[in-house]
Amino acid sequence: MKILQNKHEMADALTSWKQQGLRIGVVPTMGNLHAGHLSLLKAISGKADKIITTIYVNPLQFAQGEDFDIYPRTHEADFEKLRAAGGCDAVFIPDQMYESGHATAISPAGVALGYEARTRPHFFGGVATIVLKLFQQTGADIAVFGEKDYQQLQVIRQMVRDLDLPVEIIASPTIREADGLAMSSRNGYLAPAERQIAPFLYQAMQDAAAEIRQGKEVETCLKKASDNILAAGFTEIDYLGYCDADSLAKRETHTQNGMLLAAVYLGNVRLIDQLKV
Ligand code: PAF
Repeated sequence: MKILQNKHEMADALTSWKQQGLRIGVVPTMGNLHAGHLSLLKAISGKADKIITTIYVNPLQFAQGEDFDIYPRTHEADFEKLRAAGGCDAVFIPDQMYESGHATAISPAGVALGYEARTRPHFFGGVATIVLKLFQQTGADIAVFGEKDYQQLQVIRQMVRDLDLPVEIIASPTIREADGLAMSSRNGYLAPAERQIAPFLYQAMQDAAAEIRQGKEVETCLKKASDNILAAGFTEIDYLGYCDADSLAKRETHTQNGMLLAAVYLGNVRLIDQLKV
């Protein structure tokens, strides 16, 4: 497995692969890899000739006061996990992506509005900008994103469509702990008592989904789920919404393509989850 530490090393490897006519697959990550990331690698294997995992903690998608400084950087352990998993030909781990004077950014609207963007208005602009740069630098033909960050997945799909990027996007299902908690690098921030409470978010979403499927009024189901989430010990609900899985437009009644999206706080830790209804 090659370790490529800047865009020049990346470009050299890419030139040789492209000369051979190889198809490049990319797994974008911010590192601190867990089984969820490794499932992305598995999802893309067999769909490309060379697979690159990118590791970059992107400052542009963190606002002041968010966890950019403490976001876990576990590079050696990440390399070991990728080697053990197999199937990763190169890790692209640039130490910097924005050179001095960088002054261009993507500004997504459409599916990037609402939900995450209400609390984190900077977030999808930062994600879209870095993902576009990573696609450019890696020469991605295909890339995989987790459904856990569902709105992010939709924002990337929209950007690829809108900007005619020649990159196929595939989605990979959320990987969960045995108790249902969606795997996330941020789960490591949870204190032991909070970790006990955390799986209840998914439980409450499953209960709401069952009731919505039975035809109950969506608003009533969401209110009940919110009350239950707070009663379980969560500190605050950022959002719990029911929407169309493609457009993310709010839905008031059960629909074929319905989706629950949630973000909640447990102490200072913000957890997100999603569930197709
Ligand atoms: O989902 C993530 O880990 C990040 O948002 C991504 C897509 C790697 C962009 O920094």
